[in-house]
Amino acid sequence: MPNDCRPDPLAYKAALNAVRAAARQARELRILDLFEQEPDRLERLSFETAGLYVDLSRHRLPARAWSSFERLVGAADLVGWRRAMFAGDPINLTEERAVLHVALRASGEQPFRLGAVGEDLMPEIGDTLARMAAFSDRVRDGSWRGAEGHLITDVVNVGIGGSQLGPFLACDALARFGHPRLRVHFLSNIDPDAWDRLAERLDPKRTLAIVASKSWRTIETARNAQAVRRWLLAAGVGRDQLRHHLVGVTANPTGAREFGLANEGIFPFRDWVGGRFSLWSAIGLPVMLQIGPEAFAQMLAGAREMDSHFLETQWDRNIPVMMALLSLWNADALGSQTEAVIPYSQALARLPAYLQQLQMESNGKRVDVDGNVIPGPPAPVIWGEPGTDAQHSFFQSLHQGLQPQPVDFVLVRPTQEDPEGRGRGLLANALAQAEALLRGRPDPENPHRHYPGNRPSTTILLDRLDPRRFGALVALYEHKTASLGWLIRINSFDQWGVELGKEIAAEHEKLLANPDRASAARLDPSTAELLRRLTATAP
Ligand code: F6P
Repeated sequence: MPNDCRPDPLAYKAALNAVRAAARQARELRILDLFEQEPDRLERLSFETAGLYVDLSRHRLPARAWSSFERLVGAADLVGWRRAMFAGDPINLTEERAVLHVALRASGEQPFRLGAVGEDLMPEIGDTLARMAAFSDRVRDGSWRGAEGHLITDVVNVGIGGSQLGPFLACDALARFGHPRLRVHFLSNIDPDAWDRLAERLDPKRTLAIVASKSWRTIETARNAQAVRRWLLAAGVGRDQLRHHLVGVTANPTGAREFGLANEGIFPFRDWVGGRFSLWSAIGLPVMLQIGPEAFAQMLAGAREMDSHFLETQWDRNIPVMMALLSLWNADALGSQTEAVIPYSQALARLPAYLQQLQMESNGKRVDVDGNVIPGPPAPVIWGEPGTDAQHSFFQSLHQGLQPQPVDFVLVRPTQEDPEGRGRGLLANALAQAEALLRGRPDPENPHRHYPGNRPSTTILLDRLDPRRFGALVALYEHKTASLGWLIRINSFDQWGVELGKEIAAEHEKLLANPDRASAARLDPSTAELLRRLTATAP
């Protein structure tokens, strides 16, 4: 652990307890009363940076919480951890790695070093970006063609988790900025149906596949990549011509070469880029193909603006830090265990899925950096769907469920023509839902029609959905995630929890292929019966 990030355990414990006690005392507070009691409330709890307006005023958070927040931020040494992250110190302690996705969007005007005496990463980052740009330009201008000279019309990203969710979200969100000839698809699930359904819509002669895997060891991606390659070969693409249709993105170039890719077809990144933070690296190649190098650079610039805000702003005006503190606060002030994210924007429909991996793979952990079970509160479960659809599924529970859950409303100011008033209708619904959650509507006569209200929400308003604002939005949530990890003293940058299932799946593959009684006998009765049914001769 970086020396300057080892907080005094007793001071930390006391500070955490103080926040939690203050939060429990806030349970009965009415948010509308807080607006009356605190005339500067909206000013103090609304923020603007990088084209984003963020309103945190509608929470059961009184001004008196500030002193306990300040104490916790100090006792957890958030500033020290943040400094260590930007300095490239190995803050991912269990994997002994730096966490430097911020370097990927640095301006390049100054060196970005891996640790105090480490190498300057900027030349390498610049080289990869330049290679990605040259390649994207060629595919987009039509000078990169399929083996038989056809223009590329479809790009298939073969990857999963961090090697899919970020690029998928970005391509969907920024589709409006896309190249008119190129359609970008995402193949992640190992279910053969996923590729079969997609392949039906593709012409192998006009398809470019990107195999994206940091480790180059992920079973889903490896099998899907083999299926795609077999499909290309079956369509008559010669082995020596595959390079026209198949490239790779990885931190394990040796693995990619063993798969058959040549160095020219491999876009590398390094192990200091965590999978769920990798959108800004070569993992963003499908995004660059779709929106072009310039727009990709704007996305990086938007994230960079948020990085500067995060790095330079004092905690109580620092949006990601305040959002992290609120997560912690709400767990006790509401007793909530989840956070819903509702983008009122079809283009941001995949934001909740992206944020699930970002926040739950990062902070869904039970032990602190020293290996001790955390006292709580646990980091929230993240869920959501786009509005207005979500209103017609689970909003009932948000309004009248026994347990209030905080909601992030993500809104975009409309920029399009709106002859039918649908955009207006969309935003009216977003405003209405947040207000209904806040105000409620008491009905002393009829409990079924009683809306308790006083249910908190955050609003994030993008003044438009373009690459810059999009980059800033994603970086905001990245820094919120890291900040929450530091505040509850866990390592947000490893993911050991996903390993056991992978190991057992490998054993089950063998059993499914060749059910042998001796090994099956070691299984629990439930699993053994399922295995028997799955391997029984079809009726
Ligand atoms: O299984 C989880 C995970 O390791 C994620 O952290 C990662 O984003 C994903 O798998 C994909 O990994 P890779 O890019 O190495 O294929």
